[in-house]
Parts: sequence; structure tokens; C-alpha cells
Amino acid sequence: MDNKMKLYQDLDHVLLTAEEIKAGVEKLGKQLTEDYAGKNPLFICILRGSIVFFADLIRSIDLPLQIDTMAVSSYGSGTETSGMIKMEKDLRESIKDRHVIIVEDIVDTGRTLSYLKGDLASRGAASVKLVTLLDKPSRRQIDIEADYACFTIPDAFVVGYGLDYDEKYRNLPDIGVLHPRIYNK
Ligand code: PRP
Repeated sequence: MDNKMKLYQDLDHVLLTAEEIKAGVEKLGKQLTEDYAGKNPLFICILRGSIVFFADLIRSIDLPLQIDTMAVSSYGSGTETSGMIKMEKDLRESIKDRHVIIVEDIVDTGRTLSYLKGDLASRGAASVKLVTLLDKPSRRQIDIEADYACFTIPDAFVVGYGLDYDEKYRNLPDIGVLHPRIYNK
């Protein structure tokens, strides 16, 4: 594990190492390659947290596929969700009759996933499934689950591998639990 970066000083501990993440993402890529064989799926990166996961995931899928991006907002700058979901950037193309796979970094309260599934299903997609890197079921407020989840994690504030606190830490190669002194300042 390369923990020479100064940003690691703000972590309480590393939860998932880059090696563990890589193994989980490759396993999921193999599963999706089997499940979507012959389907030419469209992978949607939900900006910004899932960028790093998305980049690794699509490279582990051995199928012809397309990509698009979407941005919604939910958290604001703190550690708690506001409960409000707002579309900030829509898809570039129609998803009618497409097999769509939404790629998220984390499912927490489930509000974002619920919004996205409803929104995309209403556009006439052939199917809409959700993939998440991290699942935090203890925080769920809406009864909804991802179709594929790499890791189930406890109720801790995690950063790294795309996930931020106040826009920092997205570039950490590992996923770590942020030390409470950082957000209790
Ligand atoms: C995070 C994450 C999910 C959402 C999950 O996004 O990427 O989209 O929150 O939370 P929920 O299950 O409680 O709805 P965030 O708003 O932090 O934006 P970011 O991806 O740009 O960091």
C-alpha cells in the first residue's frame, strides 16, 4: 500500500486497499461481461464520485459498450445528505431501448438511486440496473438496493478512490475512514 501521500494523515484508518478494490472491481467486471453478453450496454457514470471506479470498471468488461455521464447533487458540502436531489447535467443521448447500467460510487440513504432509477426507467430504456462500488445499508432511508455491489461497508464517513469530503481526497488510491477531527473542526 502506497500511503506516503500527506492526505493519509487525515484518515483514521484504511478500510479498503487499492489491491482489494482492484480485485473487487475485476470480479464485478467478469460478472457484468457474462450477464450482458450480446447486449451492447450503455454505462452511465454518475459524476463526480464514481469517475475512478467507472474508469476501472469499464476496462474490466470484455464487451462492446458505450458510455455517457450524468450529474445529480444530494449531499452539499457536509457529511449528511440534504434529502434533495437535483439534476445538474443530463445524458447526451437517448436511452430508448438501451440496456442501461448506472454506475455509482456509493449507495447511502438510497435517495439518489431511487431518483435515478425512476428518471431513467421513464425514458423507455430496455432495462435499468444499478452498480455500486460501496453499499452502506445501515443508512438506508428508502427501501431500494443496487443490483450489483462490490463492497458492503459500515456506517463510517469514507473518502478516496473518487469519494470526497468537501472536494478533497478523491485522488487517494485506497478508501479510508476520515478522522472525525477533520469534519468536527
Ligand atoms: C454521493 C454519491 C451518490 C450519492 C449517494 O454523491 O456519489 O451519488 O451521494 O447518496 P444517497 O444514497 O444518500 O443518495 P455526492 O452528492 O456526494 O456527489 P459527488 O459524487 O459529486 O461527490
